Amino acid sequence: MKKLLQIVLVSSLSLLCFSCYYDEIPDYILNPPEIPTDPGDPDFVAITLSTDIQPIFTANCIGCHNANRDPDLREGNSYNALLSGYVTANNASGSELYTTVNSGHGGLSAQEIELIKAWINQGALDN
Ligand code: HEC
Repeated sequence: MKKLLQIVLVSSLSLLCFSCYYDEIPDYILNPPEIPTDPGDPDFVAITLSTDIQPIFTANCIGCHNANRDPDLREGNSYNALLSGYVTANNASGSELYTTVNSGHGGLSAQEIELIKAWINQGALDN
């Protein structure tokens, strides 16, 4: 644990130093890579409803989206609620969940929106 802390500390310090040498904002920040959706991609990482997506709903949405308003995004209800009309698997841009949060609804960060997009485009699994 101590070792890990050291590694993290040293790498963040060196990142900090190296960042002084950038005159321009690096490309990977301006144009972040998309999360791969092809399981054959060497960089593929499965985005899961339970660990990646549900916590976003729980923190940002369930104050309004509960038994009183569709889609019900509470843990245990969100999957069925979303797959009955708000999400089309493998088609984020055709899914109301994605288009709604991508237009600013819910106040999510670009990273959270990208996670939702990737989850849908990886098949919108109940994983
Ligand atoms: C402050 C209350 C509130 C919060 C927080 C909120 N919503 Fe909503 N949401 C609404 C209301 C009201 C509507 C229906 C009216 C509208 O379309 O704006 C709605 C509609 C929607 C719709 C359906 C759009 C439609 O036209 O039927 C989706 C999908 C949705 N919200 C997802 C989310 C997600 C995901 C979050 C969290 C990131 C979220 N909402 C956070 C109040 C909220």
